[in-house]
Amino acid sequence: MEKEAQWPGPDGLIPALPKNASNAAWHTRRFLDEILIEERIIGTKVADISFELWGKKFSSPIMMPAFSHLNKAGLDHKPMEEYARAAKNLGLVNWVGMESDEDYKRIADIGAETIRIIKPFEDHEKIRSQMTFAVRNKALAVGIDIDHSIGADGEKDVVDGEKMGTLTEEDLESFAGFAHQLGVPFVAKGVLSARDASACKRAHVDAIVVSHHHGRLPFAVPPAMVLPEIKKVSGKMIVFADCSVDDGRDAYKLLALGAEAVSTGRAILPGLLKEGTPAVEEKIHQMNRQLKELMGYTGVAGLTDFDPTVLWYHGRHF
Ligand SMILES: Cc1cc2nc3c(=O)[nH]c(=O)nc-3n(C[C@H](O)[C@H](O)[C@H](O)COP(=O)(O)O)c2cc1C
Repeated sequence: MEKEAQWPGPDGLIPALPKNASNAAWHTRRFLDEILIEERIIGTKVADISFELWGKKFSSPIMMPAFSHLNKAGLDHKPMEEYARAAKNLGLVNWVGMESDEDYKRIADIGAETIRIIKPFEDHEKIRSQMTFAVRNKALAVGIDIDHSIGADGEKDVVDGEKMGTLTEEDLESFAGFAHQLGVPFVAKGVLSARDASACKRAHVDAIVVSHHHGRLPFAVPPAMVLPEIKKVSGKMIVFADCSVDDGRDAYKLLALGAEAVSTGRAILPGLLKEGTPAVEEKIHQMNRQLKELMGYTGVAGLTDFDPTVLWYHGRHF
């Protein structure tokens, strides 16, 4: 069990973290919870949360996660298809992680607008082949989770027997160019520094996901903490974010800090695994209500009206 943090911490501002708190998800949860919101109620309107991406309209900037492997959990239903169905029914962007072409197709066939995230395989031909397959099967965009090169032993990771590779800026430029030839945007998932965001911009990446992939990097900086720096250099790239988006208030904070849209993650897992589509839909409805409530309280009429100065952190504006 992790020990509770002391309050206030040694510098009077940041809480002292327990020595063993190497869990990035723990830090991310805590950081989001400590961001507070001021009220801007006079003249407010009921918020419109509809969202446009690459010429398509979506009902909310809260998106599905890039999950994978869940169909191997031995359940009676297929969770990967079940959450894709929730995305289709609700008009949300769907994301899919590491799945074979065959399994990707089954998920894409549900009919939600789907972004396929491919592993940084050492075999670059495999990446190109999966990108091509995704586009032939109506992917909205394709991308790579660039934060999955290195494993917990410090070597190149191996997933399902497949060796991962490290990626250079030139590799990213080549994959982005390949996606553009196929006619779709290219996404780099797992960007967690202004340095890497700048490299993505130079490589003509269309969108980045500010994410630590649910804690791949020990002591990873929370996406909300690094988002303002990334926004300074992101230029025309679309900036998504995920990690610990457990309710609509978390979504609000990341959107206020400049994310154009966010993915929820493990927050939908219990319902998804137990009941499938209806539980995911109910969770998203609840998150949308929470998001709209906060937008209403802070005078944010639509997604282009967010203002980070409504956020406070430890007694100061963010
Ligand atoms: C079961 C599961 C499978 C995942 N598979 C992938 C994957 O294949 N590719 C990927 O980029 N991210 C994958 N992720 C990470 C998510 O896309 C997302 O970054 C993360 O769950 C966000 O953090 P949260 O769960 O705290 O919200 C996976 C996460 C889970 C829980």
